[in-house]
Amino acid sequence: MNILILGGGGREHSLAWAVMQNPKCDRLFVAPGNAGIAQIAECAALDIENGAAVVNFCDGNAVDFVIVGPEAPLAAGVADRLREAGLTVFGPSAEAARLETSKTFTKEICAAAGVPTADWAHFTDADAAKIHVRAQGAPIVVKADGLAAGKGVVVAETVEAAERAIDEMFAGAFGDAGAEVVIEECMTGEEASFFVLCDGETALPVGTAQDHKRAGEGDTGPNTGGMGAYSPAPVLTEAVARRVMERIIHPTLAEMARRGTPYRGVLYAGLMIEDARPRLVEYNVRFGDPECQVLMMRLGAQALDLMQAAAEGRLEGTRVSWAEDHAMTVVMAARGYPGAYEKGEVIGGLEDCPEDSFNMVFHAGTAERDGRIVAAGGRVLNVTARGATLGEARDRAYAMVDCIDWPGGFCRRDIGWRAL
Ligand code: AMP
Ligand code: GLY
Repeated sequence: MNILILGGGGREHSLAWAVMQNPKCDRLFVAPGNAGIAQIAECAALDIENGAAVVNFCDGNAVDFVIVGPEAPLAAGVADRLREAGLTVFGPSAEAARLETSKTFTKEICAAAGVPTADWAHFTDADAAKIHVRAQGAPIVVKADGLAAGKGVVVAETVEAAERAIDEMFAGAFGDAGAEVVIEECMTGEEASFFVLCDGETALPVGTAQDHKRAGEGDTGPNTGGMGAYSPAPVLTEAVARRVMERIIHPTLAEMARRGTPYRGVLYAGLMIEDARPRLVEYNVRFGDPECQVLMMRLGAQALDLMQAAAEGRLEGTRVSWAEDHAMTVVMAARGYPGAYEKGEVIGGLEDCPEDSFNMVFHAGTAERDGRIVAAGGRVLNVTARGATLGEARDRAYAMVDCIDWPGGFCRRDIGWRAL
């Protein structure tokens, strides 16, 4: 089978790594890929948000199966174009991807399906939004409605901060994503992520994770795309996970199917769990980054069979074979991230890191220059390990971090502290 993965970050490197371990995979293409991916697959320069270009590439390279990594091509309808062209594709339609691209849509689905989530209201003008905020009081959450690359959410501790956020969003701080604003009740509890594969009808849980969004140790400092993650999430016990399936996942999928837009692909539920009661924070229509890296580390080669079963509508009866293991990934980022940072510095020591089914350095933002790996993004490396315990996974991951010679990089030293 020839496979194409769309995307070029650490998530896609881990997907490529898992897929390559499966003997079913003949040729693997990744578009656009990165310097780490280029060591295990064929990278292709391709506009991945252009459905016709992706279909063309698949025709020209006898691709049988396409795995879509990020949300942008899904929102652009690339999965729809591929399905229309008769290809097997892992990823939802643009209509089903609204579970990520529109917070209002998700709230409407929750209301229709009885899914527990924060109380909310939707506004298209700033004055009405501010009147609502004053009536509700703080803390309160202000969100830009559309896709804002994870940055359109302000958890406001005071009414004044909420009003400021409202003004910024309507002034265009997040572009079109802020033309509509959702104001939400601030939920308390512990956050965790829950991942299920879906084939339109059946849902198969493929793991849980927790990540660290803040740049600084002790979960302080500015928000980022994620500085590290671990799997499983201790807060998602078997009983809580069962509740998530019964009260959140199954009702959502049933409502999507009822509307004639069945969900196919991976559904990533961001949850808030308090006293063993899970509530939905948000949905994403793709794997998390860096959560995917720890899931792939644990699933290995079977990830391909599972994604293919989801894409082909064969999930019923499919099982995940779990080892009782734990995985952790530590993000190495360029100093300054999530603010301004430098690119181009050479990263040494990678050749001294082990590469096996317990240890892997996934590349997120790297490039190759004169045969050497250089930093080419904010989040640059995802140093990932697996062990019988989370402590063992952590020790392996940080041992690799210590092999890497990159003066311009930094990482948090406390990934997993809550669970350890
Ligand atoms: P989102 O983009 O919706 O995932 O929001 C980003 C982050 O903001 C979440 O991971 C939470 O930490 C926080 N957040 C979002 N909505 C709420 C809420 N209603 N209550 C508390 N925290 C929230
Ligand atoms: N790590 C959070 C996300 O992928 O949305």
